[in-house]
Amino acid sequence: MSSLDGKRLLLTGGAGALGRVIARTFADAGADVAILDLDAAGAETVAADVRKLGRVAAAIGVDLTVHDAVQLAVAEAEAQLGGVDILINAAGGGIVAPFHEMTDEQWQSQMARNLDSVFHVTRAVLPGMLRRGEGRILNIASIAAVSGGRLVRNAVAYATAKAGVVGLTKALAIEVAEHGVTVNAIAPGAQATPGRDRDTPERRDALLDQIPTRQLGDPQHLAETLLFLASPAAVNITGVVLPLDGGHSI
Ligand SMILES: NC(=O)c1ccc[n+]([C@@H]2O[C@H](COP(=O)([O-])OP(=O)(O)OC[C@H]3O[C@@H](n4cnc5c(N)ncnc54)[C@H](O)[C@@H]3O)[C@@H](O)[C@H]2O)c1
Repeated sequence: MSSLDGKRLLLTGGAGALGRVIARTFADAGADVAILDLDAAGAETVAADVRKLGRVAAAIGVDLTVHDAVQLAVAEAEAQLGGVDILINAAGGGIVAPFHEMTDEQWQSQMARNLDSVFHVTRAVLPGMLRRGEGRILNIASIAAVSGGRLVRNAVAYATAKAGVVGLTKALAIEVAEHGVTVNAIAPGAQATPGRDRDTPERRDALLDQIPTRQLGDPQHLAETLLFLASPAAVNITGVVLPLDGGHSI
């Protein structure tokens, strides 16, 4: 038996570079998967891969910054899966702009995409977990929330929003701990996603100079870390923000 046989995962950002690895890894471990993503076509492609692994999959296109739309999307995901045992908030992403030149719109869009989205989805999923007396909530923050974004310059808004995700993780972990729901976050450093192939050799060297292990993160290892945090072995781990950064934040 795989460790997550019969579990139901709701994954935001599942069409993205990390999300699609997470979806396949969890399906491989026996979980059914509902993907919520702005990119409906990308979500459907990943859902088709999950079905090929013999699991139930749903793909729902939704803008997670819009509260009412999230309510409907989560209800649809719960209907298709029959409930949600594990929530992974992976949707997000950063823009870079010098702080003194940042517009109100840029600031607000970063808060909406990286923090409001986590609030909207988690609030919609939590009642079902509380009713069942168990659940796992896993947030993808960023090492930028901890180290001030030294790996990516001019990312103040992103670092601030991800620091909000860290605060939400810890405070919610305390609030729901006695109801059988754990809330944890990972704080990845730079991951070896396809987008990194565009780095010049100079940029790559500058990045590796800031990482003691001199390795970018492997998305498969990130997915397997989440798998551990969702597994029975992690039942007593909550409120943790785990850096996956090759020692960058030491
Ligand atoms: N890739 C890295 O090196 C790295 C490092 C640290 C943290 N992270 C975080 O990990 C997560 C995934 O990163 P990724 O590299 O896969 O990024 P990605 O851009 O490839 O994927 C992000 C996904 O989120 C979706 N999304 C964005 N805004 C949305 C919205 N408003 N509504 C619905 N969906 C939305 C996008 O459509 C996309 O599919 C993000 O939260 C990111 O901040 C990534």
